[in-house]
Amino acid sequence: MSSWWKDVMDRRPWWMNGLMLFSAFMAFIYCPWDWLMRPVAEAEDVWFGILFRGSLAKITEPLHWAIYAAGAYGFWRMKAWMWPWAAVYVAQVAFAMFVWNIAYVGGFGGFMAGLASGGAFAALAVALWNSQEQFGRRRASLKDRYGDWALVTGASAGIGVEFARAIARDGMSCVLSARRKDRLDELASELEQNYGIETKIVTADLTNPDDAKQLAKAVEDLDLGLLVNNAGFGYAGRFDKQDGDRLEQMVQVNCMAPVILTSRLLPKMIERNRGAIVFTGSVAGRQPVPLHGLYSATKAFDLFIGESLWAELRDDGIDVITLEPGPTESEFTAVAGEDREVGEPAANVVAACFEALGRQPSVISGWFNWFRSCISRFTPRSTTALIAQEVMRKQTPPEMQ
Ligand SMILES: NC(=O)c1ccc[n+]([C@@H]2O[C@H](COP(=O)([O-])OP(=O)(O)OC[C@H]3O[C@@H](n4cnc5c(N)ncnc54)[C@H](OP(=O)(O)O)[C@@H]3O)[C@@H](O)[C@H]2O)c1
Repeated sequence: MSSWWKDVMDRRPWWMNGLMLFSAFMAFIYCPWDWLMRPVAEAEDVWFGILFRGSLAKITEPLHWAIYAAGAYGFWRMKAWMWPWAAVYVAQVAFAMFVWNIAYVGGFGGFMAGLASGGAFAALAVALWNSQEQFGRRRASLKDRYGDWALVTGASAGIGVEFARAIARDGMSCVLSARRKDRLDELASELEQNYGIETKIVTADLTNPDDAKQLAKAVEDLDLGLLVNNAGFGYAGRFDKQDGDRLEQMVQVNCMAPVILTSRLLPKMIERNRGAIVFTGSVAGRQPVPLHGLYSATKAFDLFIGESLWAELRDDGIDVITLEPGPTESEFTAVAGEDREVGEPAANVVAACFEALGRQPSVISGWFNWFRSCISRFTPRSTTALIAQEVMRKQTPPEMQ
């Protein structure tokens, strides 16, 4: 915990840490109290040094709240959009301090207080203005962080293809694995041509544990620094109407294959003291999903193993993350036998994963998916399950319900 906190605080200078903590205090404690609890008659808000009172102040408070929430998040992540807006907002505070003290305190005392407080905030505004390069700083490439080679399972379609493209773009050579060799050949030529990297193709049917073991063996001589456990599939329908063999295969591909590959490839990463492992989970792993029950259970498995390893391996130089996509453009729905609209582009999902890798144990792609999963945390389990069942009914063929 203490090394995690140190990592977080090392991302910016001490005075920016102070601004981040102050923004968090305003966003989580003061502004909600000010807006929701404080009586209207006592409400006060200052903008550009002008004091607003009563309902006029109440109306502007959500804006203050939003600004501090954005500030806390922006400093936390050191987002590029913080420049110049953090400096501009703090300059506004400096101006407001000066004007407010002169207008509402008055006299020589008010002038001096305005000068002191306005001056302090003006200095902060200047420091923020001069800190542009600290926001949105480009991180080292995947190759520089993890090594020469990556293994992507499920690289013949959908999210796996985009994983391979993003990894190759960052200069890593790729081992591509799936069952459909023609697809892998096509992707390999594209990556070699576009990014000048090396590729290796290993076909494997991950329903068979021996294939997963063979795959791990086929890459043991490479400097493998990144393992993407992405292969997986869903299967829509009532449990008693589903084919038992296919259910078992789903557990093999979605759960057992990542266990086999991770346990076999991790020791070398630990020896080298660097590496990264991605588990592709799903937002379905955050809650029960009737008519997709076993699938959601396999994805809960991926979430928990990934988040646990994130903590266990932190001090060994290994980054672990579980990516939790919502509905994403791929062949998933066709394979699962679902009938639903396609979702966000697979490339966006992969970008969210690599943005978060090394920073957090799991990431839900897309704000709407994140929002939905937050709601399900606060609703009773029965309500969550029954709502999900209604949603799934619309997507599942009648004969499978
Ligand atoms: N798309 C979504 O809406 C969504 C949402 C949340 C999570 N996910 C997760 O994202 C991951 C990728 O899925 P996707 O959406 O990209 O689906 P996809 O387009 O169907 O791709 C699935 C990949 O997994 C491979 N695969 C399936 N069964 C396999 C087996 N027995 N052995 C080896 N490889 C196998 C497929 O390759 P071959 O068929 O060539 O073997 C393919 O490359 C999965 O883990 C899925 O659960 C997807």
